[in-house]
Amino acid sequence: MRTNIKAALLAAALLMSSGPALAEGNFWLWLVNFSRQKEVQAVDNKVWKEECGSCHFAYQPGLLPGKSWVKLLDEKALADHFGEDASLDKETLKEVSDYAMANAAENSMYKRSRKIALATADGEVPLRITEVRYIKRKHHDIPEKMVKGNKDVKSQAYCNACHTKAEEGIFDEDTVDIPNFPDRD
Ligand code: HEC
Ligand code: HEC
Repeated sequence: MRTNIKAALLAAALLMSSGPALAEGNFWLWLVNFSRQKEVQAVDNKVWKEECGSCHFAYQPGLLPGKSWVKLLDEKALADHFGEDASLDKETLKEVSDYAMANAAENSMYKRSRKIALATADGEVPLRITEVRYIKRKHHDIPEKMVKGNKDVKSQAYCNACHTKAEEGIFDEDTVDIPNFPDRD
């Protein structure tokens, strides 16, 4: 009986684990990983960071579903990327696309990515993170004067202007600091 329970617990832990293979006795490691997965997985690809972080902060692939990345990371689409030429050579485009697909919202176990995957499961394919229902809902009561009318933000797309830990994939409201509006709350 006892060994059955132990085996069942281990099987449950294995099922829930999303990181690299979980060896017996690595339960604590699994737990630490699990608690870290509350946010969005940070970018860990140098090419992505360089190519997609020069005009704006390098958005984490886990902020959009794969079907959005497919549309955005197309040769023609990149030549007119929100009015800018963000073209890439074939090899770089392949690396960047592969990275986006492997880490897209629906392929991530991180909590916010799960929410983004859920919010984009049906309906139109968003080309902007700021168009994702879940993200829109989180920002709907921020007045325009703090975003467009704020010379140090300008657009809702500049996540890291307000989210002080955006580069680490952390968007928790406790880490928000809207420039020029220190007394927001
Ligand atoms: C030449 C500059 C430039 C480069 C390089 C660039 N972008 Fe952009 N990107 C923009 C501009 C401009 C916008 C629109 C910003 C705004 O709405 O204020 C944008 C917006 C976006 C948005 C939508 C943000 C939102 O939710 O509103 C995504 C997603 C995005 N870029 C992804 C990428 C990725 C991935 C790469 C790398 C392959 C990349 N960008 C490279 C200029 C660039
Ligand atoms: C003008 C400043 C500003 C910009 C720009 C901005 N945010 Fe936010 N964001 C906020 C504020 C303020 C909140 C907290 C809202 C609340 O819950 O009261 C928030 C909340 C969030 C949350 C939910 C946090 C939580 O604790 O539940 C997420 C996720 C998020 N933002 C992601 C993004 C992403 C991704 C971008 C860029 C595409 C972005 N934000 C751009 C100000 C901003």
